[in-house]
Amino acid sequence: MSERRSSLCNARIEYSPKLPISLRNGLCGVVIEKGAPTQSAADQEQIRALFPATYGAPVVTFSPGQSDVTEPLTIGVVLSGGQAPGGHNVISGIFDGVKSISEKSRVLGYLGGPSGLVEDNYIEITDDYINNYRNVGGFDMIGSGRTKLESEEQFAACANVARTRGLDCIVIIGGDDSNTNAAVLAEYFVREKVPCAVVGCPKTIDGDLKNEYIETPFGFDTACKTYAQMVGNIARDANSARKYWHFIKIMGRSASHIALEVALQTHPNICLISEEVEAKRMTLSQVVRDIADVVEARAEQGKRFGVAIIPEGLVEFMPDVKKLIAELNDSMVTLEKDLEKTERVSEKVDTVCRHISAESASVFRSLPESIQAQMLADRDPHGNVQVSLIETEKLLIDLVGKALAGQSKYEGKFKALNHFFGYEGRCAHPSNFDADYAYSLGYSAAVLAAHKLTGYISAISNLAMGVDSWMAGGVPTSMLMNIERRHGKDKPVIQKALVKLDGEPFKLFASHREEWAATESYIYPGAIQYFGPSELCDCITKTLELDSAPSTTTTTPPVKAAG
Ligand code: FBP
Repeated sequence: MSERRSSLCNARIEYSPKLPISLRNGLCGVVIEKGAPTQSAADQEQIRALFPATYGAPVVTFSPGQSDVTEPLTIGVVLSGGQAPGGHNVISGIFDGVKSISEKSRVLGYLGGPSGLVEDNYIEITDDYINNYRNVGGFDMIGSGRTKLESEEQFAACANVARTRGLDCIVIIGGDDSNTNAAVLAEYFVREKVPCAVVGCPKTIDGDLKNEYIETPFGFDTACKTYAQMVGNIARDANSARKYWHFIKIMGRSASHIALEVALQTHPNICLISEEVEAKRMTLSQVVRDIADVVEARAEQGKRFGVAIIPEGLVEFMPDVKKLIAELNDSMVTLEKDLEKTERVSEKVDTVCRHISAESASVFRSLPESIQAQMLADRDPHGNVQVSLIETEKLLIDLVGKALAGQSKYEGKFKALNHFFGYEGRCAHPSNFDADYAYSLGYSAAVLAAHKLTGYISAISNLAMGVDSWMAGGVPTSMLMNIERRHGKDKPVIQKALVKLDGEPFKLFASHREEWAATESYIYPGAIQYFGPSELCDCITKTLELDSAPSTTTTTPPVKAAG
């Protein structure tokens, strides 16, 4: 195996991730401190009724001390959802944690995500095996998948697996949905007297699984640094050649955390923030007008180049496009046969426009044919438009080009190139921050497992300080929940964190964007540094730094645990 690895891979494998002080003496050297009973973020009575066995559990924190943990543990591990740098380190942390109790402890890695658990498809993780994956990117150690654990049949299958394999705990490493489902599974296990805890770990590059108790999910740091390097390289190319605009769509499903962080790291001329577009109810044509204004103003200074960052989820935050997508989703179900009668996109558009509102028809007709075709063709299994596949960066280039063509102030052709950065960042070797953080989350999950704490999410806090100041512990997952309407039903879910327009990261961006629009204030972050001075290797994201700094504005106080 080692001859197939790069030198950097080999060097990363040798890296020893750092742990918070409380976890440095192995699992037998950690004691648990329990706080007061808690309550959910909102909708307390409904959440309590849905989680009668696990609701109200205390936040737990870990400190060094002699514990009574002596028995070996068997842990099942699942990677759920999109890849995020650090996934292998969570598993390494769990592995090293349970092995610190006894060499007889075992870690079973369920293959291909939650479906592997339901089907009892696993491998036993050994020393030799895990040593190939320490501190390196990817989820390929055991694979991942997007099967949702939510039906009674799936829960019963998991219960069967837990009993058959003698699992003491299942650790589900995932985003908000996966952690919500982990909490539901934990509740089911208590109800059905399955002697197995269920614990979650916060993962997603999107950065939207965060709150008062989870400061950031792992993966966000590395993904943002990877995209920032790429955006910086493009900015430097733009500033060297001075002939193209670069429109760069960046992954992040709905929230614009990644786009905002990359903007703070690189200072592009334009960065759209979906949450602001929604708050200001900006239509597609207003967004296009705003971009065209910046392009024009720069052209007046003789600068016919620039960099624009576009968050992946933008289209769904513009009220007119959102309405169009909703109407397409409704009408396409009945129109499928009619649409099959012709190959011509323009005829399909005519057909659809007869069945949607005049306002939506006008927006639909204003889109380039390639985007219309995408909206008509790329549909998910429920028949809905696959929003993440819409090439927003190309859409905006096309519409900005048309807007400029009608302007006397802008002479000549608008030359723009499109990029989409997404998968490039999800499997990068984790930065030192993500390597340490993910390893600590895994180790912390092992502590929760050893103390039979179920329905918890592993949590490390004080992240903006050095690792010596990090605090390890666990938060009851039900505490992070509220009730939301999903697919026509009220469901308990962990609140997804969108970019706060009164938050420090957005305020910093907003205070500089006019200057960045007009100038070439670009920052070129370069590649992630893994070895060298701490100020280069251990730096954190601007988002984490600013979110952790004392606020300069008065905001609504967050929901606190019951006293
Ligand atoms: P998770 O929420 O599962 O962490 O995935 C995040 C993400 O990378 C999004 O940014 C992106 O929209 C999506 O996954 C892409 O999904 P897929 O890997 O299924 O193409």
